[in-house]
Amino acid sequence: MVGQDKKGGLARSRLAQDVDPFLAKAGVSVGFDQRLAPQDLAGSLAHARMLGAAGLISPEESRLLVEGLTQLAQDIKDPTWVWDPDLEDVHMNLEKALTDRIGPVGAKLHTARSRNDQVALDERLYLRQVIGQIGQELWELRSALAQKAQQAGSAPMPGYTHLQRAQPILLAHHLLAYGQVLKRDSARLRDLKARLKEMPLGSGALAGTGLPIKPELVAQELSFPELAANSLDAVSSRDLILEFLAFGAILMTNLSRLAEDMVLWLSTEFGVAELPDSLTTSSSMMPQKKNPDGAELIRGKAGRAIGNLVALLTVVKGLPMAYNRDLQEDKEPFFDTVDTLGLVLPLATKMVEGLRFNLAKLRSMADDPYVAATDLADHLVRRGLPFRVAHQQVGALVAFCVEKNIALRDVEAATLAEFCPEAEANILKELTLEAILAARDKTPGGVAPRQVAARVQEALAEVAEEKNQTLAGESV
Ligand code: ARG
Repeated sequence: MVGQDKKGGLARSRLAQDVDPFLAKAGVSVGFDQRLAPQDLAGSLAHARMLGAAGLISPEESRLLVEGLTQLAQDIKDPTWVWDPDLEDVHMNLEKALTDRIGPVGAKLHTARSRNDQVALDERLYLRQVIGQIGQELWELRSALAQKAQQAGSAPMPGYTHLQRAQPILLAHHLLAYGQVLKRDSARLRDLKARLKEMPLGSGALAGTGLPIKPELVAQELSFPELAANSLDAVSSRDLILEFLAFGAILMTNLSRLAEDMVLWLSTEFGVAELPDSLTTSSSMMPQKKNPDGAELIRGKAGRAIGNLVALLTVVKGLPMAYNRDLQEDKEPFFDTVDTLGLVLPLATKMVEGLRFNLAKLRSMADDPYVAATDLADHLVRRGLPFRVAHQQVGALVAFCVEKNIALRDVEAATLAEFCPEAEANILKELTLEAILAARDKTPGGVAPRQVAARVQEALAEVAEEKNQTLAGESV
């Protein structure tokens, strides 16, 4: 093969010396970019057909390239297939393997093409595939959350601010909060898919090609609705990958919050939920332990997803237009986030499905001795008091109760009258947990069982609807 006599690959035609071994080693990417092989072959197949159709190579040459590439797509599935680091990257490896199979005509494949537009195409194809896959896994998690919320019915639990008991909420409401977060994550992924329209092949190294190519044929074969509007942008921008990494970092951050809640719920101190044994681990030293490692690993892996985003942002930020070799460093962070999400999303789904809540305990925690404090203040506001005054009066009453170790509901009428003269005598008996919850129905996002039940139905309907869209191929 041309140029092969020199160490360092196909592209060293003008260079007199072999590549320095350290530079060669720094430049090898086939160890990780080999996973782009199916996309690289799909792009090459479309390119080879196009070269034939455009008359840049003969129909017979095009046929030989297509046959060879089709065969190669099978061959690389063999687990004993060996990638050669001396050939630098997946593109060179596949071109060499093709030429080994079909002879000198293999050298025509790279007509009117650079690895710069080639890798840009490969990455877009890969991104499109992972968006579909991850979109499906995210859908499954959202579906599990909506079902868990439905099962939770109107079971109360304490709501927290500052991790201090604040006001009662519903377990379903808590779960649906994550449902809303993940709904936006799904929407972010869909937005990204909608931006993956342009087909970059034909942009060459940076300035396109003077050869009479027909890039619209490649775009059509690979289902891209548009051709790149700017060749420099097409080969050098990585913002679509950045957007995916940002999506991944945000999603992992959101899952980390859910994981943290699980760690708390599963702790001995909270003790409000359990997981099946298969989703927990034990300790090598303390046989009594049942550890929530899955949740901790989800929480911990958020760090790598955030790191991957920051790594690529940093790589790209100082690059002059157009292609620079730094861009090869996009792949490991990209693939790592793909793998992290591919692992974490199904794990999180199983954990959500596996959670068994202790509803009685959650209820008794929600029915805190001072649960009615805010509503008592609101009652005083209804009776005409400025809220700040009401807050002070109730605060003083709570301090008294804490001191005497009595619950608000057990406060005698005389004591109530002393601290809160405007209060109705039996108001504390009326402010039951159920009444407090039911009152919070003034906004659609309130915690009243009536509102929450409606939101559960909406969440279930949304995931069902998105499933239909996914099946129809309209969605991610
Ligand atoms: N492995 C390279 C990358 O991922 C392919 C493009 C190489 N282009 C070049 N001009 N050396 O960026």
